[in-house]
Amino acid sequence: MAQIVAGVGCSHVPAIGAAIDLGKTQEPYWKPLFDGFERSKQLMAEIKPDLVIEVYNDHGTAFSLQYIPTFALGVQPEFRPADEGWGPRKVPMLKGDPEFAWHLVESLILDEFDMTIINEMEVDHGLTVPLSLMFGQVKEWPCPVIPLPVNVVTYPPPTGKRCFALGRAIRKAVEEYKKDMRVVIFGTGGMSHQIHGERCGLINSAWDKQFLDRISKDPQGLATVPHLEYVRDAGAEGIEMVMWLVMRGALNDDAKEAYRFYHVPASNTAVGNIILTN
Ligand code: DHB
Ligand code: FE
Repeated sequence: MAQIVAGVGCSHVPAIGAAIDLGKTQEPYWKPLFDGFERSKQLMAEIKPDLVIEVYNDHGTAFSLQYIPTFALGVQPEFRPADEGWGPRKVPMLKGDPEFAWHLVESLILDEFDMTIINEMEVDHGLTVPLSLMFGQVKEWPCPVIPLPVNVVTYPPPTGKRCFALGRAIRKAVEEYKKDMRVVIFGTGGMSHQIHGERCGLINSAWDKQFLDRISKDPQGLATVPHLEYVRDAGAEGIEMVMWLVMRGALNDDAKEAYRFYHVPASNTAVGNIILTN
């Protein structure tokens, strides 16, 4: 039987990907950030996932304003890193797992989550940066990745409660899969940031830290926090953090916190990482 062994919450700042790809990780601005992810990489090497389900948001790369799926799932065998304007990231092609992905999407839709099925898409920094932070610079990714995009770009995004419930349905689907597999689920984006308008540059470390406390110890309570609070206290793009609740819903309520890291700044953004194990 497949099982979810761990969950990862992780920021996805595009400049982190550029710092890795351009060999700048040891520069004074970046070193403290990358030092904080050394333990994360060690833990991932110990956890050894056979598959990653990565909950992330597309930033107008694969999707446009023409179509805005609330929850989607990539079922194709391979995903190419997208060119977001400065050339595709120099990271390996991602392998999917069509058999698992179709099982997951069937189970979720029959469980009344109306997933959009994606047969063809490229993936942006929202997906590739957390993978780089968790697995490092590799020739091949250590396991297949199933992308699960969530709309947090255009109002209205799904509620925290709905995201948490989706996580529960993912856990059920994983546990019904017949192959023995160690699955790790990522919730990505955040932490506090706003990258446009009058409040551009907003960072709220106090809010971020209580978010990390609650994602660890009070997930059900955190799931009731309204969008308005994210946007007011964590900046307009802080709403990305609602996706961490999908990850948290897929874990046991009493999952153990194995690691936490928080750092400011990276570009305009506060960076957070949490690793929870079942
Ligand atoms: C930045 C952060 C993001 O989450 C993003 O998607 C784009 C840019 C930033 O801080 O620069
Ligand atoms: Fe983003």
